[in-house]
Amino acid sequence: MSFAHRSVLLEPTVAALIEPDFHIKRAGLIAPKAIPNAVYVDATFGRGGHSQYLLQHVDASARLFVIDKDPQAIEAAQALASQDQRITVIHAGFEQMHTALSEHGVHAVDGIMMDLGVSSPQLDAAERGFSFMREGPLDMRMNNSTGLTAAEWLSQASVEEIKEVIADYGEERFAFQIAKAIVSRRESLPLRTTSDLAELVASVVRTREKGHHPATRTFQAIRIYLNRELEELALTLPLSLELLKPDGRLAVISFHSLEDRIVKQFINTAANPDAAVAHLPLTVEQLPQPWLRSIGRVLPNAAEIEHNVRARSAVLRVAERTYTPLQDDWRATFDQAHQALAGRGDHSRRGKRR
Ligand SMILES: C[S@@+](CC[C@H](N)C(=O)[O-])C[C@H]1O[C@@H](n2cnc3c(N)ncnc32)[C@H](O)[C@@H]1O
Repeated sequence: MSFAHRSVLLEPTVAALIEPDFHIKRAGLIAPKAIPNAVYVDATFGRGGHSQYLLQHVDASARLFVIDKDPQAIEAAQALASQDQRITVIHAGFEQMHTALSEHGVHAVDGIMMDLGVSSPQLDAAERGFSFMREGPLDMRMNNSTGLTAAEWLSQASVEEIKEVIADYGEERFAFQIAKAIVSRRESLPLRTTSDLAELVASVVRTREKGHHPATRTFQAIRIYLNRELEELALTLPLSLELLKPDGRLAVISFHSLEDRIVKQFINTAANPDAAVAHLPLTVEQLPQPWLRSIGRVLPNAAEIEHNVRARSAVLRVAERTYTPLQDDWRATFDQAHQALAGRGDHSRRGKRR
């Protein structure tokens, strides 16, 4: 069954990859740059909205590698690839982007886009078990051919583990009460369906956030945990430095503050690697030079939010690779700079979006 996905921040994301003046105008496609034999990556194909829009604006010599871990997204990608020879489809987690591209002989790319989280088809298909609005098996795996389902995990995790996941990834105040209720209920009756979990959570969460189902945060948390969404994002972003050509662009759309914080911290670190050695008496020439420059942050406008409720919380961040080569020990410098910036509060945990 195929459900449509309405792409968020479509034009600015594609413009971020191919519009030379994006850092000034940030608006849309005015004069896309025509790079012969350009190589792009859509690391989160979904139903290919961003991919198709990009392909409409690049020439016949361009290549687009599309990645998704969801088998149904891959089916859709293969259908598109059968009509457009510029596309190569990769069924993998995006943290394998580097290896997968090198298997195709590609070691450097002109642009990478990532549109994080779940797609509408994943949410809308009851059998995928992502939505508290639709009765279905409690699954929630993006790659539903492998790994534990939500029902399996909830049948074996301890109160402490469940509480931690719901508190950390859902920022849910009632995490402990929910975890206790899950473990106590499963002793007599296992949680099998989305409604089983949604109803149980609703019976525990006493305060209602306006416009939100009481199980929203719990479902988000379990999904993020099972799919290792934040770990994979944090692993993948630094790899993009190794792949992007000088002037190559990275465009990432996130949908909640946990994701956005990781993207923001990554760009900040890659733009300020000298933070790693701030305590050493080095000359300006000896300081590590930026690997990335941040060139924009874009939010959806009111019209987009009105047409697409998913856009409500979206943030697009864009960065451009500089000409600084990566030294053999760049990763150690990156990690030290990351620590140093966190210590200075530049990576404040609940940092406001700026
Ligand atoms: C928001 S949707 C992308 C929608 C797409 N931009 C479009 O316009 O149709 C996110 C997609 O990324 C995939 N995804 C999320 N995390 C992933 C990961 N770590 N590796 C590969 N794919 C991932 C999901 O399976 C989902 O299909």
